[in-house]
Amino acid sequence: MKRTLLLVAVLSASQAALAAGSADKGKTAFAKHGCWQCHGFAGQGGVAGPKLAPDPMPLEAMSAFVRNTRGGMPPYQKAILSDADLADIHAYLQSLPKARDYKSIPLLNP
Ligand code: HEC
Repeated sequence: MKRTLLLVAVLSASQAALAAGSADKGKTAFAKHGCWQCHGFAGQGGVAGPKLAPDPMPLEAMSAFVRNTRGGMPPYQKAILSDADLADIHAYLQSLPKARDYKSIPLLNP
């Protein structure tokens, strides 16, 4: 019972920490933490990392991935990348516009 209560407390604390972030600050954090080196400045994907935007995965999933990845991407612990910075990065990726439908661009439709 005690353990369940502790788990509930930990879960609600981590949910509170994953509050929505600021896209402006996220742009800076995305640059500062070097995410752009592998994912491109607009999260468009690059030589080393996959596309992250537009339409990023939900913040909870992104947090779980970034904290625990053991693949081609190094994991970022909270001491290096805070929950607040991660939420800001997520807000930045979410703020990036989708590409226009090519049919709406006259030059591409001669
Ligand atoms: C050294 C290169 C590198 C850096 C720096 C890097 N990533 Fe990655 N990232 C990768 C690679 C490679 C993958 C694919 C790894 C895999 O699937 O195991 C990935 C995958 C991801 C994914 C999962 C994408 C998906 O669709 O599955 C997210 C989210 C992500 N990165 C976010 C970030 C964030 C946020 C930062 C900065 C804090 C960052 N990455 C920094 C290389 C990098």
